[in-house]
Amino acid sequence: MDYQKYLSQRARNLYGSLGKQTSVPIPGLINLGSGTPDFVPPDYVFEAMHTALNQQKIQYTAWTGIPELRAAIANKLATENGVTVNPDSEIIVTAGAQEALMATLMSLLDPGDNALTPSPHYDEYTRDARILGGTLIPVDTTPESGFVIDVAQLEAAITPQTRALVVVSPNNPTGTILPKSTLLQIAELAQRRDLLVVSDEIYEYYVYDGNQHTSIATLPGMAERTITINSFSKSFGMTGMRLGYIAGPAALIEGMLPFHHAMMICANVVTQYGGLAVLSQPRDWFKDVLAEYDRRRKLWMQTLDAIPLPYSPPQGAYYIFIDIRPTGLTSAEFVKKAREEAKLVFQPGTIGGGAGEGFIRGAFTKASPEFDEGLERFTKFVRGLI
Ligand SMILES: Cc1ncc(COP(=O)(O)O)c(C=O)c1O
Repeated sequence: MDYQKYLSQRARNLYGSLGKQTSVPIPGLINLGSGTPDFVPPDYVFEAMHTALNQQKIQYTAWTGIPELRAAIANKLATENGVTVNPDSEIIVTAGAQEALMATLMSLLDPGDNALTPSPHYDEYTRDARILGGTLIPVDTTPESGFVIDVAQLEAAITPQTRALVVVSPNNPTGTILPKSTLLQIAELAQRRDLLVVSDEIYEYYVYDGNQHTSIATLPGMAERTITINSFSKSFGMTGMRLGYIAGPAALIEGMLPFHHAMMICANVVTQYGGLAVLSQPRDWFKDVLAEYDRRRKLWMQTLDAIPLPYSPPQGAYYIFIDIRPTGLTSAEFVKKAREEAKLVFQPGTIGGGAGEGFIRGAFTKASPEFDEGLERFTKFVRGLI
């Protein structure tokens, strides 16, 4: 049968766009580009989820999430980020940041509309906009500027159909943290051109070298036009628990609710209790996680310095954006060859837009000794190419 004819135009447009996922681990393969952190949260998070199950908490919760978790999120946003939101009307608990950003874009983009984002960027935004018949317009950044967006260029890309600016800091895949001066310029631009800002802050806890995370909603005039997206995936090592949230002005949250309801009704109840547990206790334990990630980050940089191969020093997140142009290969060629010949997995820099050509995304999410072995293999592999 010709199944394609049954598919919507939307489905046909995206057909195969994810590539093939290998569901069985391939022996000997080291994923040095993985976005999945390798730690788990403290025991009390698991205990809270067990307790929820033992108490048979398995029915729908409120669409926007259990009130205790919304209160804990509002408290976290106020105390850690300086963002004030009403837990009753300005938060939706979601199935991760992924659902949060889809529900957000569904509520903002009509067919033909666009959102702008600095590129290289997290690839899902492109797919989301396409599903909606809109466009994510990537505004290229360069290695010379440390992949920090030139706000004049961002402004030049605005069209009458532009509905929002998407800001991801710390960034995936470049590890760039936008300096406060740039965030202030973006804030000024958003206000002058009357645009909303979608701020994806899921890597907020991964900041190195004394860098600080700033939530754009805290900048003057921005609370009323910022939608803050965050998740438990990266900060708390809970990627498979699928828990995240959207925080923003009540009228916008109301606009997103039908989409959240259509996709999820509510986030998973058991993981909501896990999320509540993690937010209800001090987060000092994360200091050790960060110290370990920083150690690996430095090992990556030392490895690249020794080869030598240029890179953009990661200021945040857990990715390292490596300049493979000295090898003469394209990003896609390098990734294929590294997999075939060195059994190493990376993401091509181009996955988040053309500005990433000539780069690959490495990561420091694997523990030693696998990580060390991966770096050794990488060195040998690249030395054989240059
Ligand atoms: C920038 C960015 N936003 C959102 C997501 C999705 O995260 P979640 O697991 O919370 O859905 C990812 C996942 O890698 C990401 O890198």
